[in-house]
Amino acid sequence: MVSRVIPVQSFDLVLFGATGDLAKRKILPSLYHRFQAGQFGGECRVIGTSRSTLSTAEFREAVSVALKDFGGAEDGKELAGFLELVDYVPVDARGDGGWGDLKKQLRDDATRAFYLSVGPSLFGSIAGRLKESGIATEDSRIVVEKPFGHDLASAQELNRDLRAAFEEHQIYRIDHYLGKETVQNLMALRFANSLFEPLWNSTHIDHVQITVAESISVEGRGEYYDNSGAMRDMVQNHLMQLLCLTAMEPPSRFSPNAVRDEKVKVIESLETVPNSDIVRGQYSAGADHAGYLEHANNPASRTESFVAMKVQVSNWRWAGTPFYLRTGKCLRKRVSEIAVYFRDPPHNIFPGIDPATGNVLVIRLQPDEGITLHTTIKDPGPGGMRLTGAKLDMTFADTLSAQEQPQDAYERLIMDVIRGDQTLFMRGDEVEAAWAWADPIIAGWDSGRFAPHPYDPGSSGPEEALLLPHRDNRHWRRLGG
Ligand code: BG6
Repeated sequence: MVSRVIPVQSFDLVLFGATGDLAKRKILPSLYHRFQAGQFGGECRVIGTSRSTLSTAEFREAVSVALKDFGGAEDGKELAGFLELVDYVPVDARGDGGWGDLKKQLRDDATRAFYLSVGPSLFGSIAGRLKESGIATEDSRIVVEKPFGHDLASAQELNRDLRAAFEEHQIYRIDHYLGKETVQNLMALRFANSLFEPLWNSTHIDHVQITVAESISVEGRGEYYDNSGAMRDMVQNHLMQLLCLTAMEPPSRFSPNAVRDEKVKVIESLETVPNSDIVRGQYSAGADHAGYLEHANNPASRTESFVAMKVQVSNWRWAGTPFYLRTGKCLRKRVSEIAVYFRDPPHNIFPGIDPATGNVLVIRLQPDEGITLHTTIKDPGPGGMRLTGAKLDMTFADTLSAQEQPQDAYERLIMDVIRGDQTLFMRGDEVEAAWAWADPIIAGWDSGRFAPHPYDPGSSGPEEALLLPHRDNRHWRRLGG
């Protein structure tokens, strides 16, 4: 396969929160990798801003360290070339200082992108000042990170603040799961092949499992996490996006609003999940591992670090086909996948033979991005008719050459911002619909009656979570296959 790098137009990317963790770990390395790949077309510049009074030379030094630590950079012409494109202007996001200096730095003939790698409490103030100072033009883009609100009311307020200064077509709300290669491949698989689509409904699909399991704990992020929990941190956004792309109707074309219209319809078809269809968990301390309560620094916390639930999509296509979702920290493996279980054949012509575990299509997001179709075949060799499982496996790493290995999600998303393509970003009404679904579920937990179940670090989550599909004569896929 031949990968094509299409250079983007000349841009000025202003990075608010330029000395923060996300900037160092993800945003700056992603920009550097796209620069290395030759994707910076005309003159492109990255202007860091934060409250710190750094000189450009000091900021470049900090960027250089970050790129070496997190972007695989080494001293040499390439790194020096990138650093020349980097500038720094101290700006007070809540005050008046620095905005005039920032304005002077920007060019009239380059696309302007403002990347807000800051907490949501600053979105409104920064957006407003960009507009008042005349820095934001009609063609500018503004990029905001999650968490996009804490509930429906706060998300609506953020949307109001952003829309007071920018039009919806200028606002890029990031959910980095949408930038992952396999997530987009899900759309290609469904809508560029005619093989699966006729089967993609409740007549042929028994159920779907969406798993995003992480082995890391919340250590170091305890304070943020304890106010969110797995539902707000992962389900309302990342798992919701995976569910939408799996369940949505074919859009009329692959354009931002056509795709997002279909996703909103899925979210609006979701039923409120009763507490009887939800299991929350919290990891306990292990022999050599602190527990959640210690990591969160809150001995009385009832926040969930794990959640599993059975979700019903009430529409013509999916009625009667449940979607089981689960996500958690400190689990035995890092696995993100969507497993589509097709129904058993209507009649078994092989009586007395153990059913093999076929009929499952697994779309793996990480690790080992790829797609596997589990089929049932004859056990090879003599001895009569026996059945066994066989996998038709497409691991992308085997199909692509070294230069074509999937990019980090942020690389793709930032280049899409510059190109002005919103397909892989969440629209305001989409985020609000997702909160409108999540809010009543979370409100049921806040009553304090549903404490999370403890689970061992390194396990597959609380025992109670196993019962969720068991009740329906189904079982979770083992974490890691
Ligand atoms: C973030 C969550 O949005 O996604 C984290 O806040 C989580 O808690 C992370 O660890 C997972 O992302 P990835 O790309 O590592 O699966």
